[in-house]
Formats: sequence, structure tokens, C-alpha cells
Amino acid sequence: MTVKITTINLLRFLKWIPGLLKNPLPTIIKITNKYGDLVQFNLTKSQKLILVNHPNYIKHILKDNQENYSRRKAIKPLEPFLGDGLFMSEGKLWEQMHQLVKPSFHDEQIKNYYSCIKTETTQFINSWKSKPKGSLVDVELEINILMLKILIKTQLSNSTEIDFIEIIKCLRILLSTASFANQKIDYAKTKLSKFIGVKFKEDKKTIQALNRLNEIILSIRNNAKEKPESIGFVLQILEQAKEKNIITDQQVRDEMMNFIFAGFDTTASALTWTLYCIAKHKNYQESIQEEVKLHASTGLSLDEIAQTDSVKMIIQESMRLFPPVWSFHRVSINEDKLGDFIIPANSYIMICPYALHRHTELWEKPNEFYPEHFKPGNFQGKAFTYIPFGQGKRMCIGKPLAMAELQLIFTMFMSELNFELETNKEPIIVPGIIIKSKKPLLMNITSLTN
Ligand code: HEM
Repeated sequence: MTVKITTINLLRFLKWIPGLLKNPLPTIIKITNKYGDLVQFNLTKSQKLILVNHPNYIKHILKDNQENYSRRKAIKPLEPFLGDGLFMSEGKLWEQMHQLVKPSFHDEQIKNYYSCIKTETTQFINSWKSKPKGSLVDVELEINILMLKILIKTQLSNSTEIDFIEIIKCLRILLSTASFANQKIDYAKTKLSKFIGVKFKEDKKTIQALNRLNEIILSIRNNAKEKPESIGFVLQILEQAKEKNIITDQQVRDEMMNFIFAGFDTTASALTWTLYCIAKHKNYQESIQEEVKLHASTGLSLDEIAQTDSVKMIIQESMRLFPPVWSFHRVSINEDKLGDFIIPANSYIMICPYALHRHTELWEKPNEFYPEHFKPGNFQGKAFTYIPFGQGKRMCIGKPLAMAELQLIFTMFMSELNFELETNKEPIIVPGIIIKSKKPLLMNITSLTN
């Protein structure tokens, strides 16, 4: 595969703005189809945005020379929200925090979360089953609540006093100001001065949302001190490290915020789009429901069925077509080389899993829902072609938990429920930090046993 490199000047770039504003994701694919896997946009004399869409070059940036590419600089405006947590920190601080919280994602520890995942999911299944026939469910919203509950209960606190809906509302305000669309509006306003840097608008609503989240975090901590039996695994690790003066009070707050920021919206998006894919492709839904039933009849537990290839393949394929984190960014620290191409220092790098996962030269049937892509053996050597969790040293620490949650909850759903889309119209995707449908994804959910 040869790599085409193109440099686009400001005038040529302006041509793409209407498409980027109206429907950004298909437009980015059109750009890569037209200009190749390495596209440099000269936004101003000194500011360059480089879209990298080739696995070898992505490997160079995320793994081989990852020290030269800063995530923190690319999302600097999120600092008031994320502080020095794992997502933002670099160097020694990152090493320290990574080592500290890593045990929460070990296989043995994840098994301890199963009972919470099952209890919460069963409650949702029952509430859906009890809805009047024909009622439609806003799947994305409901799944967001389910995943936030599981995240907070397993990692932070099992207290009954947490207002999950309020947390979601605050986060939506904070993250909408950092969305792709808002960035573009700001960009237009500031005459192309800041294209990809995440803009954290300090408006009144945003500040209020941040203050409220800080209060909620503090009350979760205070509550856990009063009722130590309610404390979640990560918060316990953090509070213990704070007691021993290994980390500061502020670091406990920052890490909790980073977990809430990174740990539920992503998983909720993956599960929502998985349900969308199987509701759209009824043959796959029927065959996975049958398979789950068959395995159960031979005595396999839900935990065991959740580990089967067919369950994993459907989830992986859904995240190929709809990667929750549809793009991520870096800023180059020093000048670097990608093949013959020079990356100047201080360039914004954009890696777009949504475009990479639909690359026509890398995937057979790139735009079709085709879980066979992930049949064991079919996926050899594609570590940098399929990157829903990122790659390299800074890849998602929560991947083992996310996959365990997705596999188990999806299996539970498939053993009891049927999902039908309200409409066959293609949803328009809004690329905030996480991809979402512009209109609520409404589904008719029915029980398989009635
Ligand atoms: C399907 C679910 C998830 C997806 C698709 C996802 C995706 C990602 C991606 C793409 C990155 C790297 C971004 C970059 O390189 O700039 C990342 C990092 C991260 N994720 Fe996830 N994530 C998921 C679930 C979770 C969960 C459940 C947690 C925690 C409970 C979590 C915590 C984190 C953290 C802390 C980082 C920063 C890691 C570091 O820099 O060391 N994520 N995630």
C-alpha cells in the first residue's frame, strides 16, 4: 500500500468547511479518499493540522515516538475540568497515577464487578419489560444512566444518594462546549486561529456545571468516609494513597473526574451503537439470540456465554463502524519525520478511527456491518488498523473493564430482549467528543419470552 501525501492550503481547505459543518464524519472520509492517508492543512503560516490515516504512521505517533506527541497540549482547554488526572498528565506523574489505578482493571478484580453489573442490568431489563406494548425507549439516554451507575458503583461509591441524571446533565454541558461543532464555530469566529484545540468556553453555564460536579465529587468522598462499606475500588486506592501522602487531595479529585469523563459515556456509546447495529441487521440479532439460548440450554452461564467469539465479534464490529472516540489529537513537541514527510514542531495531529475503520484499502466491505471481520484469524496484524481504544502507552486503561461490561450486558440483553428500530432512516451522527445520534435513537424493546 503506497502512502499519498497532500498539502492543502487555506483556500482549498475553505471548500471543505460547509461539509465539515453539516456532516463532518462523511466529509472527513471524502477528504482522505481524495487526498490520501497523510493530509497537511496549512491553516495559517505557522499552524498546521495533519490528518494521519495510515496504520504505519499511526503506530509511529502513538507508539514508536509517542514521547514526541502530547495529548495534554491538544486538549489543554479541558484542564480546569480534568486537572492532572490520568487523561491529562504526562511524564512521572502519569507513570505514578497509572501504576496506582491499574489494579482496578486486572482480570481478577474485574470479576468482582460482575455482580454489580448483573444487578444493575437486571433492573433495566425489568423496567423495559414492564413498559406498555409499543412504547419507545430512548436507548442512548437509558444506557448512559446504566453505564454511569455501574462505573460509579464499582469504582467510586455504592451510595444510594447519588443523582446520576444530574451528573449526566453537568457533563453534557461541559462536553458540548468542547464538541467538534462548537470548535468549528469558535474557529470561524477567531478566523481560523484555533482549529482543533478543544475549546473550553468559560461561560456561566459551563462554570456552574463544573462547580456542581466538584460538589458532587466532594459529597461522594465525604459519604464514603462516613460509610466506608460503600467505597468503590478506585476511590479506596486513591484515598489510601492520599492518607500516605503519596498523592494530594487535588489529585484524588482530578482522578475521580477523569474516570467520570472517560469511563461511562464511551462504554454507553459502544453499547448503544451495538444495539443499533443488531436492530438494523435482524439476521445477526436473531442468530445471536439463538446462540445465547443454545449455550444456556447446555448449561453455560451468562458469564461464560459473554466470552464467546460471536458476542465479541458483534461488539468489535459495531465499534469499528461507530468508534465512540471517533478522533483523538496530539501536538508534536519537536520536528519529526513520517517517511519522507516532515512534521513541524507544534503541529496538531488528528487521528480519526472513524475514517481509519472504514478505509477502503484496509477493510473488506468497509461500510457494511460484517462481524466476520473479527473472526479469530481474520484480524492478524491489524493492531494499528483498528483502534477504538487508542494504542501504545497511552491507550485506554479501562479497556478490560469496558469489554467485560459490554460483553456481559449485551449477552444479558440478547438472552431476554428484542430490539427494533423505530425508523429505518439512517441516523445523522453528531461528533462531539463521543459520537452520538443527532436525534434520539428510539427503539421498541420487547421481551423474548412473551
Ligand atoms: C468502549 C468504551 C471505551 C472506549 C471506546 C474508550 C476509548 C479510549 C481512547 C480512544 C483512549 C485514548 C485516547 C487518546 O489516545 O487520546 C482512552 C483513554 C482512556 N480511557 Fe478509555 N475508553 C472506553 C472506556 C473506558 C473506561 C470504562 C474507563 C475507566 C473506567 C476509561 C478510562 C480511560 C482513561 C483513564 C484513559 C487515559 C489513559 C492514559 O492516558 O493513560 N475508558 N479511552
